[in-house]
Amino acid sequence: MKVLGIETSCDETGVAVYDTGAGLLAHCLYSQIPLHAEYGGVVPELASRDHVRKLLPLVTEVLTRAGCAGNPPVDAVAYTAGPGLAGALLVGAGTARALALAWDVPAVEVHHMEAHLLAPLLEDNPPDFPFVALLVSGGHTQLVDVEGVGRYRLLGESIDDAAGEAFDKTAKLMGLPYPGGPVLARLAEQGNPAAYSFPRPLLDRPGCDFSFSGLKTAVMLVIKAARAAQAGTTQARDGDGVSEDLPPAVMADIAASFQQAVVDTLVNKSRRALEAAGRSDLVVAGGVSANVALRAALRDMGAQCAVQVHYPRFDFCSDNGAMVAFAGAQRLLAGERAGLAIQVRARWPMTELVPPA
Ligand code: KG4
Ligand code: ZN
Repeated sequence: MKVLGIETSCDETGVAVYDTGAGLLAHCLYSQIPLHAEYGGVVPELASRDHVRKLLPLVTEVLTRAGCAGNPPVDAVAYTAGPGLAGALLVGAGTARALALAWDVPAVEVHHMEAHLLAPLLEDNPPDFPFVALLVSGGHTQLVDVEGVGRYRLLGESIDDAAGEAFDKTAKLMGLPYPGGPVLARLAEQGNPAAYSFPRPLLDRPGCDFSFSGLKTAVMLVIKAARAAQAGTTQARDGDGVSEDLPPAVMADIAASFQQAVVDTLVNKSRRALEAAGRSDLVVAGGVSANVALRAALRDMGAQCAVQVHYPRFDFCSDNGAMVAFAGAQRLLAGERAGLAIQVRARWPMTELVPPA
């Protein structure tokens, strides 16, 4: 079965064709980063309009690259129905349903975080169920015990900012350009992770929940102190927290120390989750799973605790169409079909998902 996957939940237009026999046939991604850069963050209305502009040309390109020339060119269409930006989701959902109707093939709704969670299964030597998943994206930070497709038990989650959001907000505070997360991570590679001692929230309490919002404040205080020291005064300047005026070495040290605090917290809670669930496989997915320091720390934890750690390929850590085509295919194989109504859900807890019938 050939499945066309469509992802438009935020600022990436992703399209792919996954064949349940032959694997991934083609995928294309259009990133809106330059469009949103001048605003310092994603502007939902601009995101929707750009998905409208780019989606159909990408579908045509992917179908050509995948060699899908028949009529219908695919056997089904899968699309992200949530969670995400409602307008952006609607572009993907409306287009997907229209294509399915025109080709007279079934359509299926995909949960964006389920798609992230299953993305490592697209790789060679995929993990077997059950496993624990650490989902770390711009909107979510969750530890989930996964017994199969749709069989999810939430072990812990962030009670405030998601890990990616913490990277993005801290980067903004430091005056780094959008998209902040990866820029901060690159800067951190040149810094000393022990230069500043940032808090590791909730590590002193039992359980697998996270809290990242306090880290921002801690970084802001360090920035103010560093600026004051640089200005040779004891009084920190009032301002918006933008710190382009700090020396590059100080910026790199702040970035590295912040990143270390996030990484330590994610690794510690992942270990707890693995122990609590009695699993020896950890799947890490979502945009932050591309973080090199996180991968190194998880590798060490895995070696110490006899845990195998699995990732999607770098291209599929952040949003993409391949993970949507793959997740949709799993549900289609089990006979799942979406009704005719085009519905999207900006908020959609993954624990509401049920296994395919
Ligand atoms: O999964 P994703 O593409 O979109 C959502 O579903 O949210 O994740 C995007 C998030 C952003 O917050 C971005 O800053 C973060 O992932 N991110 C990173 C890195 N690459 C992307 N955070 C830390 N280190 C990175 N290398
Ligand atoms: Zn995502």
